[in-house]
Amino acid sequence: MKAAVYTAHGGPEVIRLQEVPAPQVGSTDVLVRVRAVALNHLDLWLRRGLPRLRLTFPHIAGADVAGVVAGVGSAVTTAEVGQEVVVAPGVSCGLCAACLAGEDNRCARYSILGEHRPGGLAEFVAVPEANILPKPASLTFEEAAAVPLVFLTAWNMLVTNAHVGLADTVLLWGAGSGVGSAGLQIAKLFGARVLAVVGAQWKADRARALGADAVIQHRQQNVLEEVRRLTDRRGVDIVFDHVGAATWETSLKALARGGRLVTCGATSGAEAATDIRYIYGRRLAIFGTWMGTKRELHQVMALVGQGRLRPVVHAVLPLEQLAQAEEILERSDHFGKLVLRVAV
Ligand SMILES: NC(=O)c1ccc[n+]([C@@H]2O[C@H](COP(=O)([O-])OP(=O)(O)OC[C@H]3O[C@@H](n4cnc5c(N)ncnc54)[C@H](OP(=O)(O)O)[C@@H]3O)[C@@H](O)[C@H]2O)c1
Ligand SMILES: [Zn+2]
Repeated sequence: MKAAVYTAHGGPEVIRLQEVPAPQVGSTDVLVRVRAVALNHLDLWLRRGLPRLRLTFPHIAGADVAGVVAGVGSAVTTAEVGQEVVVAPGVSCGLCAACLAGEDNRCARYSILGEHRPGGLAEFVAVPEANILPKPASLTFEEAAAVPLVFLTAWNMLVTNAHVGLADTVLLWGAGSGVGSAGLQIAKLFGARVLAVVGAQWKADRARALGADAVIQHRQQNVLEEVRRLTDRRGVDIVFDHVGAATWETSLKALARGGRLVTCGATSGAEAATDIRYIYGRRLAIFGTWMGTKRELHQVMALVGQGRLRPVVHAVLPLEQLAQAEEILERSDHFGKLVLRVAV
């Protein structure tokens, strides 16, 4: 099959379109013909390399897949050839205490499509039957591929961990990021007031159109001062952070008493200083999110199917232009998701 692969760790020059063996389909697996696959910042980390990451090359990345069932293993009972599907990006053992409790993202064998196993930047991908969800009929394949990983993560951060609600004001970093464009909508769905942070004027307009109550431009404004001004010096109830080192101190200081900081990433660096007095003095809580459970993804997909949450697609490019798409993501010239079209 045709796949867009990383031939080694490095810059966009390590990306190649080449023939690779088609995936093996186990008895409980479903073979999906990929129609569209969305990029995540994760794909950039995988291409560049991380300290404890061991990949075998050529590596197929791509965690977010929408496509059509092309084959099923002998023990599969719920998926049918020809069915239009979305793939849950987290694969777990299905048998351990965490999995049986529905906490599959806490499974010791949890893996992400395209990270620890071949991903969707290819004509075909094989995944366990439990990872198959019907594609909402109202969405194109490109829109459907833009949903799973970021909406799942943002839901786990805001709903499961921070218990976002009507009375909350949320400071949301990176409103134009994949995870931020999902988080902004989820916070609004639960009636919260959202102060969205972006790095460009055109993104401010997009954030407002998506429902932001106020927008702060981190390159031009002092975010902490703006938060204090916009909250009458009280601070916010929830901070949605995935930027890391560059934002951590501001995130902590922006919280009101009893505030919750939810984090899923460290795009700008992983080491930051914490003034511990803020944590006890203001009775703060800090939550870490690693993806979310399959149940949460089913909830999210239902809301997307109803049109109450909607995928934000920045651009759709052919698979052949993976390098160009990754360059857009690397420059942060996007608002929402970059999607690759694999087949029509
Ligand atoms: N734990 C998990 O399960 C999980 C799930 C999803 C994502 N993540 C992580 O979350 C992060 C975001 O992922 P993504 O795919 O949504 O990324 P993305 O679409 O590439 O967005 C990155 C965002 O970071 C913002 N940013 C970068 N440096 C900044 C700074 N110094 N100050 C303020 N904002 C800054 C950019 O905003 P501007 O360009 O507008 O400034 C941009 O919106 C990544 O680190 C990813 O690995 C983790
Ligand atoms: Zn398990």
